[in-house]
Amino acid sequence: MWTGHLRRLLPDLDIRIGEEDAHPADIAYCVAWKPKPGSLNRYPNLKVVFSMGAGVDGIVADPTYPRHVPLSRVVDDTLSQGMTEYVVLHTLYWHRHVGDLASLQAQRKWKQFAIPRADAVRVGILGFGVLGQHAAAALKALNYQLSGWSASPKKIDGVTAFHGPDGLGPFLAQSDILVCLLPLTPETKGILNAKTFAQLPKGACIINCARGGHLIEEDLVAALDTGHLRGATLDVFQIEPLPATSPLWAHPKVVVTPHVASMTDPASFMRHVADTIRRMDQGLPPENLVDFTRGY
Ligand code: NAP
Ligand code: GLV
Repeated sequence: MWTGHLRRLLPDLDIRIGEEDAHPADIAYCVAWKPKPGSLNRYPNLKVVFSMGAGVDGIVADPTYPRHVPLSRVVDDTLSQGMTEYVVLHTLYWHRHVGDLASLQAQRKWKQFAIPRADAVRVGILGFGVLGQHAAAALKALNYQLSGWSASPKKIDGVTAFHGPDGLGPFLAQSDILVCLLPLTPETKGILNAKTFAQLPKGACIINCARGGHLIEEDLVAALDTGHLRGATLDVFQIEPLPATSPLWAHPKVVVTPHVASMTDPASFMRHVADTIRRMDQGLPPENLVDFTRGY
């Protein structure tokens, strides 16, 4: 399906799948998701690598990646839209106590309780880049109080912006619902840990739709079990697929989804690949490039 799109867009392109019968020197462009470490080092004439994901941790972490070859990642409206739908759905899920209401229904219990309006709920987005800002715009339309945390300072209308290590504590202290949309880098690995959770207001909820490596799963379970955190939505895990033995599957305060928050749309992605190849044929540089020094 993926190659079919590219064949239609660039019928003259010679496309090879996997490492099948191509001379390494003939490969000029490479499309990759989680390539085997060392595999991208085999092609001496590679001009660009296209990451099929917005997250490039699976590629950047390979110490043998040929760093002179630009790495272009997915920045695409369909991907942003999918992530925004996921973030809005799960923000509303925790804000509107959907799980608690479902459990009351299962018990045939009529128990009313007050639910605050969105303008009284503070949503903090860890990682305020392409996806974080797209989701923020939709949450803003619902009247949530919004804040974002990024590496560099930002000024965005209607959003309280925090940045850098010094901004993290104040950001966490005012996040009732914490959404993680950070890239996975050495700086952000394990950032959703006991110390972070302790800085959130009591009863806060977590939505991790970035990478499993951001979360110390044992710390999350402990914070849920003491009641400091009220709930968590997890789309990504330290080990994927999530092992059947994981306590997260059956935890009453956890919603598990199988890394489906937003999936790259094949047609849209291949349009980006074809456009970039045409650009490069005209001597123009590829776009959406990863900065290897930052790791994202
Ligand atoms: P992006 O545009 O690169 O944004 C990343 C944001 O994180 C930026 O705001 C960046 O700050 C901030 N950041 C990075 N390192 C930081 C640090 N050490 N401290 C503070 N802020 C830091 O990435 P994106 O396109 O929004 O994607 C985010 C991630 O979502 C991807 O890396 C991927 O892992 C994940 N994802 C998951 C799914 C899924 O289905 N679950 C789908 C797509 C993507 P600056 O703005 O200052 O650079
Ligand atoms: C999916 O996880 C992505 O990084 O696009």
